[in-house]
Amino acid sequence: MSRSGIFRPENLRQNALAMVRNICFSLCVTGALIFIIMTATYEPDDPMFHSDSTFKSDNSVVKTSEDLLASNETAFEEAENRGCNGKVDSIDCGDPDVFHLLMRAAIEKFRDIDFYQFGRPVRGINDTSCHMAWRFRPKEGNAAAFEKDFRNFVLVSENCTLSVVGIGDYHSGVNAMKRKRDGKDAEKGEFGRLRSESEAIEETVDISLPGVELDGSFSRGKYLVYSGGGDRCKTMQHFLYSFNCMLGEAQYLNRTLVLDFSICLPSIYTSSGQDEDGKDFRFYFDIEHLKDSASLLDQAQFWSEWNKRREKDGLTLHLVEDYRTTPMKLAGVEDALIMRKFGTVEPDNYWYRVCEGETDKVISRPWHMVWKSRSLLDVASAIAMRMDCDFDAIHIERGKKAMNKEQWPNLDRDTSPEALLVTLQGKIEAGRNLYISTNEPNTSFFDPLKAKYSTHFLDEFKDLWDEDSDWYAEMKKLNNDKPVELDGYMRMSIEDEVLSRAKNKIETFNDLTKDCKDGVNKCTSAS
Ligand SMILES: *[C@@H]1O[C@H](CO)[C@@H](O)[C@H](O)[C@H]1NC(C)=O
Ligand SMILES: *[C@@H]1O[C@H](CO)[C@@H](O)[C@H](O)[C@H]1NC(C)=O
Ligand SMILES: *[C@@H]1O[C@H](CO)[C@@H](O)[C@H](O)[C@H]1NC(C)=O
Ligand SMILES: *[C@@H]1O[C@H](CO)[C@@H](O)[C@H](O)[C@H]1NC(C)=O
Ligand SMILES: *[C@@H]1O[C@H](CO)[C@@H](O)[C@H](O)[C@H]1NC(C)=O
Repeated sequence: MSRSGIFRPENLRQNALAMVRNICFSLCVTGALIFIIMTATYEPDDPMFHSDSTFKSDNSVVKTSEDLLASNETAFEEAENRGCNGKVDSIDCGDPDVFHLLMRAAIEKFRDIDFYQFGRPVRGINDTSCHMAWRFRPKEGNAAAFEKDFRNFVLVSENCTLSVVGIGDYHSGVNAMKRKRDGKDAEKGEFGRLRSESEAIEETVDISLPGVELDGSFSRGKYLVYSGGGDRCKTMQHFLYSFNCMLGEAQYLNRTLVLDFSICLPSIYTSSGQDEDGKDFRFYFDIEHLKDSASLLDQAQFWSEWNKRREKDGLTLHLVEDYRTTPMKLAGVEDALIMRKFGTVEPDNYWYRVCEGETDKVISRPWHMVWKSRSLLDVASAIAMRMDCDFDAIHIERGKKAMNKEQWPNLDRDTSPEALLVTLQGKIEAGRNLYISTNEPNTSFFDPLKAKYSTHFLDEFKDLWDEDSDWYAEMKKLNNDKPVELDGYMRMSIEDEVLSRAKNKIETFNDLTKDCKDGVNKCTSAS
């Protein structure tokens, strides 16, 4: 790669892989890229499902791009070679690989600034150019505020290799600062409607809830809604599992999913110790990505439209009250709305049950559509940057398990600072930044580690979510101007993300102790 700003990876995907492994700086700023929440192994009967632990990183359903990329390098290469037919005439600026490439090119070229956040690239002036926006601060001086830039990137594709061959001038990427409008490109190519600087980045991200278009198309639509059920206020894993089943059914039926975007946060994640209802989906998950991936509608808006138009337009409802009615049986239903109603008897009334049995083979749960929210990823990126993107991490689970000597006879001893110093020898070099994720409330407990490592805990980075932070302002905006507390689930999301960016990562079970994660004799075959 040359210093002139021209960047030619030999092979984009392989390169992306190497990049994820080796170049920490790009990791630090690619937070919003492909940190996907997914699972292949999660089962509702998994003891973790009902666990009271707030620290689940070692069994988390949250996977990162790194896991995905590392999971099967060969498969990626083969896929790459199969799809390789020389020149490509049109570049998909929305492709995560392209996003990665553009970020990398920008980081290479502009070495005198610190990037803070990249907006998703959009189509540029023609089929082979993309526009991308970012926020930055000059490295020199101490500018208090972020500045914004958006530029044109010219790409070429040859021999299966996509390269950036040119980056335009300051503010040349005007498409990246326009509000997205459901595929309507009416404003494309207009250079006149520049908004104020401060709006530039925000305009690349549309995080409003999906609403009804006022163009009369409502009555032509087909909808699916889930109602009732026992899923509310269960764990977030349960929520996601059910959510993905519902989303999968809507995809399968080609119907718009009507959703209640308020979430009940279970007590294990709240500071009050009570379940807290009315949390906003957008606090935790990336609504923009979800809207891009699936057809959705906010429930309140839906019902208001429905009531207005039902009689006039003859809209009909198909009610389903038994979860054993499979999506396949509903494929031929012509009614405008299919409503699945769930009863009061748990666990028969869990939404995810719709996807069990024969349906499991037919419906795919679209985990790739549910990403962590960008604001949480930004906090994680900032934390990684504060440690110069060069750190190791250790996840230390103690809490109730460490106190329960019957089920976890060695855990307490194996996670004591003295034992840790011995175990980490040869695994983590002295003097390294060591990020510690733990449910041990008293962090001074780990003070002996300071003699050898530079230790860090989440709360050291409090300023990233305090009243002066971007995160605080963003949440307040989403929450009708009321402040939002950084809750336990958010903390876990952030820590997961930080851990995934560590050079070396040490887990409690398997790495630190031979005790089984779920108690005596409950080690899974893998461990
Ligand atoms: C990776 O993918 C290839 C090709 O699909 C397959 O043959 C191989 O077994 C996979 N390896 C692993 C570790 O999953
Ligand atoms: C797109 O625009 C760039 C820059 O003006 C130019 O170099 C390139 O040839 C154009 N590509 C196409 C397909 O027109
Ligand atoms: C693409 O392949 C051709 C033929 O092998 C070669 O001449 C050309 O230099 C290659 N282009 C790039 C950008 O590597
Ligand atoms: C959904 O749409 C796809 C593509 O148009 C079609 O193949 C499929 O049969 C449709 N499914 C249903 C249940 O209507
Ligand atoms: C925290 O742990 C340290 C070291 O084990 C101990 O001295 C201190 O008393 C503990 N503090 C609290 C509040 O438990």
